[in-house]
Amino acid sequence: MTDAVLNQFTPGASNEEKIDATKRVKVGIIGTGWIAESHIESYLQMPDVDIVAAADLIPGKAEKFMEHYGVKGVHFYPSHKELLDNEELDVVSVCTYNTQHAIPTIYALEKGVNVLLEKPMCVTIEEAADIMRAEKKSGKILSIGFQPRLDANMQMIKKIVESGELGKIYYIQTGGGRRRGIPNSTFIEKKTAGIGALGDIGCYSLDMVLNAIGYPKPLTISAYSSNYFGTNPLYNNPADAARFNVDDFAAAFIRLEGDIILDFRIAWAMHIDTPGDTIILGTKAALRIPSIDCWNGTVGGPMTMYFDVAGQQTQTTIPLVENPDNKGLFYHKIRSFLDAVKNGGTAPVPTSQILYNQAIIDGLVKSAECGHEIEIKIPEI
Ligand SMILES: NC(=O)c1ccc[n+]([C@@H]2O[C@H](COP(=O)([O-])OP(=O)(O)OC[C@H]3O[C@@H](n4cnc5c(N)ncnc54)[C@H](O)[C@@H]3O)[C@@H](O)[C@H]2O)c1
Repeated sequence: MTDAVLNQFTPGASNEEKIDATKRVKVGIIGTGWIAESHIESYLQMPDVDIVAAADLIPGKAEKFMEHYGVKGVHFYPSHKELLDNEELDVVSVCTYNTQHAIPTIYALEKGVNVLLEKPMCVTIEEAADIMRAEKKSGKILSIGFQPRLDANMQMIKKIVESGELGKIYYIQTGGGRRRGIPNSTFIEKKTAGIGALGDIGCYSLDMVLNAIGYPKPLTISAYSSNYFGTNPLYNNPADAARFNVDDFAAAFIRLEGDIILDFRIAWAMHIDTPGDTIILGTKAALRIPSIDCWNGTVGGPMTMYFDVAGQQTQTTIPLVENPDNKGLFYHKIRSFLDAVKNGGTAPVPTSQILYNQAIIDGLVKSAECGHEIEIKIPEI
């Protein structure tokens, strides 16, 4: 067959990205740590982006960061405040640790700047509500950095749910974890991270299933959390064990609107390889989404769908699908946000959904603290 014939059947052949480089975007980066590397590596691939400012609380860190990437002409600031007070920007990437998500985001929105905020949205539901109030008042675009949403396999889960093939969904088990995989740095202390495995990887599991089923409102939660591994020098570097004061394991039983049960667990460390696959049970069929060792919000292998055909119990494999290009999820997370800013679109990952993700995280912390089930209260925005 000739290429001309084959190309008729090649999906995406006409999906070439067209970026108008004459319409430029002025970008600032707040927090130049680990995840900021993925942000700048994506920005540097985009012909319409000018990186004009960067801030970090640690003196000299932002300068070193830009030097490493060979980016010239950047203005440097000692915190988000000076950066936002002194620059006219179109967008900022907020790449700070979790306890510094709300303050820079709210300040940026107040200054009329569009924000791409890293996940989790923040630490508490009160912060989430304050962020959303600032967003509403500003009329600017705020998107939360859940790049697994852009993965074709994640999108397949949502397509399967929306096709109706599963029937009415009544029970979901989700979460995952690592036998050993405790991070260090700013991830393990309340003063910087606020929450541990829950905010690092738990929020991804929640987004995987809640996004698929349309983010129903969470109603009640009964939860548990612990940190037996993070605090133990047998399983963690002694210096890190001594300062470790966040969760390394969390589990919860959550009731969602629409009579749906969500059974959730997440771990940075435990004495087993996985606490189980994600499963979605419906009245017509069920879906199994394999877990992955290094739990990071991706589909761990081909999914299986279970159903009856003419009274016979059967199952089918949903093969993993390729992403349409090899630019990576991070590139697309940033590109979809910039396109929304440039074209007057809406946030690719809106706070109206992630509010419920945050409400579950907040409820989990509160229920685990008091040791019984609690009602999840969603604030008025
Ligand atoms: N989307 C992903 O795949 C992904 C992966 C890893 C981390 N993250 C998220 O990214 C965030 C940052 O993680 P990290 O590993 O880069 O942390 P990090 O500690 O390496 O970097 C954060 C930086 O922000 C700076 N900072 C804090 N408050 C500031 C402020 N007000 N103004 C200026 N600078 C400030 C700190 O000095 C630090 O250098 C976390 O919320 C984490 O959950 C996302």
